[in-house]
Amino acid sequence: MTTIGIIGAGNIGQAVAEAVIARGHDVVIANSRGPETLGDLVARLGDRATAGTIEQAAGAGELVLLAIPLAKETELEPSLFAGKIVIDADNYYPQRDGDIADLADGTETSAGRLQAMLPDARVVKAFNHIMARQIVTDATASGTPGRRALAVFGDDEDARGVVAALIDEVGFDVVDGGALAESWRIQVGQPGYVTQDTAAELRAHLAEATR
Ligand SMILES: NC(=O)c1ccc[n+]([C@@H]2O[C@H](COP(=O)([O-])OP(=O)(O)OC[C@H]3O[C@@H](n4cnc5c(N)ncnc54)[C@H](OP(=O)(O)O)[C@@H]3O)[C@@H](O)[C@H]2O)c1
Repeated sequence: MTTIGIIGAGNIGQAVAEAVIARGHDVVIANSRGPETLGDLVARLGDRATAGTIEQAAGAGELVLLAIPLAKETELEPSLFAGKIVIDADNYYPQRDGDIADLADGTETSAGRLQAMLPDARVVKAFNHIMARQIVTDATASGTPGRRALAVFGDDEDARGVVAALIDEVGFDVVDGGALAESWRIQVGQPGYVTQDTAAELRAHLAEATR
């Protein structure tokens, strides 16, 4: 059992919270408006969930899930994430996030951009290419035929391994995609984005991606 910080209490934050709580973990979950606005959510999530400030969620344990609109990432205080493994579920949608030149022209990955913002964290791209509810509804036990797979990308191999173990525990096979510089392969619009792939299918989709 571990405690996982969750920043962003919307679709993805809630689904990951539900999934990890079901595996016996605790969560500290935060949004932008403060813990007093999360009473109904933590009541629904049960005793393993606590509403916190962003500082409390970031400080709760080694793992912090980030699940906020990408444009809001600039509001994060980098020092809160020093030494943490930050699971980056965020995606760049220009119509929502505005024109961010390096992302719009594809010269930077969204996860690489986040890693540069949080230099003392180890960023692992994960959970960005699955519809939120499917984190709960598509989960199956290890060894289940046709088990869905999710990808991890990150510059730190150990951090990728920690997140991969959590994903497997939650109910998905894992495809290790390597460094953050390769994570464009799982961004919005690529073949593996929100498709319900097995590990073999996801590997093929990552290989077929075009920049
Ligand atoms: N929805 C999906 O199926 C899905 C799938 C994969 C990836 N994603 C990506 O995951 C991210 C979150 O998506 P979502 O659908 O979960 O969004 P959402 O339902 O709109 O929830 C966003 C959450 O982020 C919080 N937030 C906003 N700004 C913040 C800040 N500066 N600090 C802390 N918390 C902040 C919001 O809190 P307040 O309400 O208090 O402002 C809210 O709890 C996005 O980047 C999205 O592209 C979504």
